[in-house]
Amino acid sequence: MLISPSILSADFADLGAEIRRVRNADWVHVDVMDNHFVPNLTIGLPVVEAVVRVSPLPVDAHLMIDDPDRWAASYAQAGARSVTFHVEAAHDPVATARAIRAAGARAGVAVKPGTPFEPYAGLLPELDMVLVMTVEPGFGGQSFMADQMDKVRAVRAAIDRLGRDVWVQVDGGVAEDTIGRCAAAGANVFVAGSAVYRAKDPGAAVTRLRDLAAAALGA
Ligand code: DX5
Ligand code: ZN
Repeated sequence: MLISPSILSADFADLGAEIRRVRNADWVHVDVMDNHFVPNLTIGLPVVEAVVRVSPLPVDAHLMIDDPDRWAASYAQAGARSVTFHVEAAHDPVATARAIRAAGARAGVAVKPGTPFEPYAGLLPELDMVLVMTVEPGFGGQSFMADQMDKVRAVRAAIDRLGRDVWVQVDGGVAEDTIGRCAAAGANVFVAGSAVYRAKDPGAAVTRLRDLAAAALGA
């Protein structure tokens, strides 16, 4: 059960302090958006490099950008320990995943809510994580899409068939009332933006989320 708070809902003017508030988390999730793949613009490589420098947690970069083939490995070289790109945007996902791993990071692919995973199941041997989006990518604070749980189950089943330790991440609307369903469906990495950073005590929110995910598995 790994919790990866998204700094999209944090104070961008003080990212170092914002990340230290959730130092009890497992990762810190950084959303890179280019205003082409998604209708929003956030941060890019220079800011991710700066976050890596100050973060006590390993950085989990989520690239919502066109042409990730060109950029993904640079995020790994910048020090992100996990780099996830969208299959909808990639031209050569195998080469891109290999380039991320060659640069020393975990490689992940993300699928938008309308994108089925089955056509991409052949990528699993190249991957360390699959991100099942539980909102349309682009903005924090949206409502959780419960209809994506079937996809989480299908991804987990495909991974189990393969017998590899590939992580399943969910991102979007993950909060106290939804995280249990994600865990029960087979997710083990939970991104939460507003549920963490809009809480009075973000660190306590991380602990509560982790406990609720574990409870859903009867752990
Ligand atoms: C949305 C981003 C998410 C976002 C989640 O496209 O990928 O990481 O920060 O925010 P919440 O948890 O508020 O839905
Ligand atoms: Zn994200």
